[in-house]
Amino acid sequence: MKIVIGPASKELGEKTAELTKLEAVQVSLKTFPDGEVYIRLERSVQCENVAIVQTTSPPQNDRLMQLAFLADAAKRNGAHNVTAVVPYLAYARQDKVFLPGEGISIETLGRMLKGAGIDALVTVNIHSENALKKLSFPAKNLSAIPLLAEYFVRKGFKKAFALAPDKGAMYIAKQAQKVLGGDAGHLEKQRDRYTGQTRQTGKGLDVEGQAVIIFDDIISTGGTIIGAAKILREMGAAKIFTACVHPLLIGDAENHILDAGVEEIVGTDSTPSNIGKVSLAPLIANALKEQESG
Ligand code: R5P
Repeated sequence: MKIVIGPASKELGEKTAELTKLEAVQVSLKTFPDGEVYIRLERSVQCENVAIVQTTSPPQNDRLMQLAFLADAAKRNGAHNVTAVVPYLAYARQDKVFLPGEGISIETLGRMLKGAGIDALVTVNIHSENALKKLSFPAKNLSAIPLLAEYFVRKGFKKAFALAPDKGAMYIAKQAQKVLGGDAGHLEKQRDRYTGQTRQTGKGLDVEGQAVIIFDDIISTGGTIIGAAKILREMGAAKIFTACVHPLLIGDAENHILDAGVEEIVGTDSTPSNIGKVSLAPLIANALKEQESG
């Protein structure tokens, strides 16, 4: 197997190649004045299994096109099998028709990527398991939550309360709780499907005097974490931290979260950011090794 270092995940791709001791294939990328991209593999991948490491966080549409072009280039170069390693998979939140007239974006995306030459996918904490089922090729979903929780154990926060900002993320809080060994719970979050507005409540939670870590898959605008931090402060939490797998951190999200009383924001290198303190490379390297040996 060879590892193609996608332009959106250069560092993560290099680290993964180092850990797996697989050859890294670099990529030339040019952007034309009109915004179109040109992409070329710098080494042959003929008769090889190939893993393309390329996240699809914003600018997601550009990164998805780059991924598709890389898959096509690999196949035309004679690659045997192409696995896309996409830590953050864009469009996974639109995994069903919520309102009449909508499409299922993740399903469309799956068909496009398959058409481009992708045979399998490895991703990390996809927004919903249902999204995985919509893809047109075998897909494996890894979890980085234990790695994030271990970060807090190393910092001396064993027994911290693991909080999910909504019921859907409770599986995340439970995975963190296994490592932290404290309590876990979730807030209630309701979303208005037309306006996108959300409302959070903390009924039944007891976090008074505790160190609380809010775990989520994605931090985008930071609104969810800011709302959760407000409730936790009102409930008397002693310290508030947050951890996420995909720190998209749109606009000034990082500062807004810190201003809301969160002491530290911890993310992974699923997407390049200032807070990627936990690397996904060991997780991805293991998954690729298993794939090659099994
Ligand atoms: C939603 O269900 C996700 O798990 C995240 O909570 C959400 O995407 C975070 O978005 P934001 O940071 O904009 O509140």
